[in-house]
Amino acid sequence: MSNTKGHMVYLNGEYLDLQKAKISVLDRGFLFGDSVYEVIPVYNHRPFAAKQHLDRLTKSLTAIHMDSPLDHDSWIEIFDRVLASSALTDKMLYIQVTRGAYPSRGHAIPDDVTPTVLVAALPTTRRYVLEGVNVITVKDQRWANCRIKATTLLPNVLAKDAAQRVSTHDAIFVKDGFALEGTASNLFMVKDNTVFTSPLSANILPGITRSIVIDILKTHHIAIEEKMITLDELKKADEIWLTGSVQEIVPVVLLDHCAVADGIVGPMWKRITRLYADRVEQETT
Ligand code: PDD
Repeated sequence: MSNTKGHMVYLNGEYLDLQKAKISVLDRGFLFGDSVYEVIPVYNHRPFAAKQHLDRLTKSLTAIHMDSPLDHDSWIEIFDRVLASSALTDKMLYIQVTRGAYPSRGHAIPDDVTPTVLVAALPTTRRYVLEGVNVITVKDQRWANCRIKATTLLPNVLAKDAAQRVSTHDAIFVKDGFALEGTASNLFMVKDNTVFTSPLSANILPGITRSIVIDILKTHHIAIEEKMITLDELKKADEIWLTGSVQEIVPVVLLDHCAVADGIVGPMWKRITRLYADRVEQETT
């Protein structure tokens, strides 16, 4: 925690030192996981794709019957101020909105509760995984509303832990024979020069990186299809990638301890990674 000392976070209208920012034990985010969040990548001290993240935050809030507590310009002003106070080189913006603290604990949503709003610049190590990673597949034990970016992430935490216990990097959720997404990432597969990704549904988070990668592929006339991917198809893929805001596009070279194609990072990944870096540079310099 020492490298975050002195950095200001925004909490409910105030700018506070990270170490001093505290919430109530009666906060419904703490008691019930009654809250949603966003992670926005930061390059050059600037948020990348902030509008898309804020739009998704609004959708998550609407889905849990909450209004956005701030308008777009107010969010951006807070991001700027929080980022300006942080000397971290590698960081991301973490935003969490909970239903708020209420004097009594009860499942029913109170109508007179004030949301808890947190914006913090937190340290991250952007890992440029050039040699590729190994992943396992796990049974998807999450709920039926994975399109909401909810903070109730216990199945994701346990799946990541299952991966790390067998010395692998991450896990891909499989449901009814279909590979869906990673614990904190979306799934892409390349087969015969076509890129495939799971279609948007209640089974996956509508990833911002996913949408940017799809846009880049379309711009460059690379074939892209959104379709359900069976585990058998994934095993026979030429390339597998996992995408997420902080990790960007991570190539998978071992799936359930077996090599993906010839077990080295593929040419399409090299190309798309360069194009993604160009897009980030265009928008953050
Ligand atoms: N996770 N799927 C899941 C389940 C995720 O948690 C995430 C992101 C993604 C990728 O979404 P995006 O490209 O918008 O980051 C897909 C964040 C980064 C996290 O929980 O830390």
